[in-house]
Amino acid sequence: MGRADGPPYRFYGRRRGKRLSPRQERLIDDLLPRLAPDPARLPAGPLWLEIGSGGGEHLTAQAADHPEATLIGCEPFLEGVAKTLGMIEDEGLGNVLLLDDDVRPLLDGLPDSSVDRCFILFPDPWPKLRHHKRRIVSRENLDSLARVLKPGADLRIATDHMDYARWILRHLLAHPDFDWPAERPGDWRLPPAGHRRTRYEAKALEKGDRPLYFRFTRNT
Ligand SMILES: C[S@@+](CC[C@H](N)C(=O)[O-])C[C@H]1O[C@@H](n2cnc3c(N)ncnc32)[C@H](O)[C@@H]1O
Repeated sequence: MGRADGPPYRFYGRRRGKRLSPRQERLIDDLLPRLAPDPARLPAGPLWLEIGSGGGEHLTAQAADHPEATLIGCEPFLEGVAKTLGMIEDEGLGNVLLLDDDVRPLLDGLPDSSVDRCFILFPDPWPKLRHHKRRIVSRENLDSLARVLKPGADLRIATDHMDYARWILRHLLAHPDFDWPAERPGDWRLPPAGHRRTRYEAKALEKGDRPLYFRFTRNT
């Protein structure tokens, strides 16, 4: 799928990994279609979106912590989707929707001011200069996010890649629709209240890396 008036979106990451177990195959066939987000029929109450939800550790933990919200996870890597489905089933979570695809067509379909919070946690850094245009934090994607986020909504972005951190700050500070309310280093060196650790983050911390946690807000 692509923009209504432009070329299709190209996704550069991995979509398939190891073979799925029979249980995972069943979850993909039976549970995943029931969790597909439909932008025309969004549930009532707060809507939180996680872009690149990976194996679903953060998505499912936040869903358990916040039964009042509905969380939409987007993850094109099928093995991550299968793991997430396993956790949703094991924990009996009824407030998670899951899309096994690129987030960008979904963003195009969501109504204006419909999302209360968005997480982009440890996005692929695409370190080579010629690959920077693949980064999910881009002016075009920020424009889409600015449209769908409610005024005052949080956009939380974490990374352990310092070049990407500078890129993120540059793009967000240049964007007229976002503010960066940080006041002191602890506001980006420490995870925000209520943060739940992701798999990628746990690995980075084990290696001794010090991730940064940015919290931006959609301005009013
Ligand atoms: C480095 S991983 C981090 C996963 C997870 N957030 C974590 O911290 O463990 C980045 C994830 O973003 C996903 N991703 C990349 N481009 C995406 C896109 N356009 N839409 C949704 N997810 C995307 C990738 O498939 C990958 O699983």
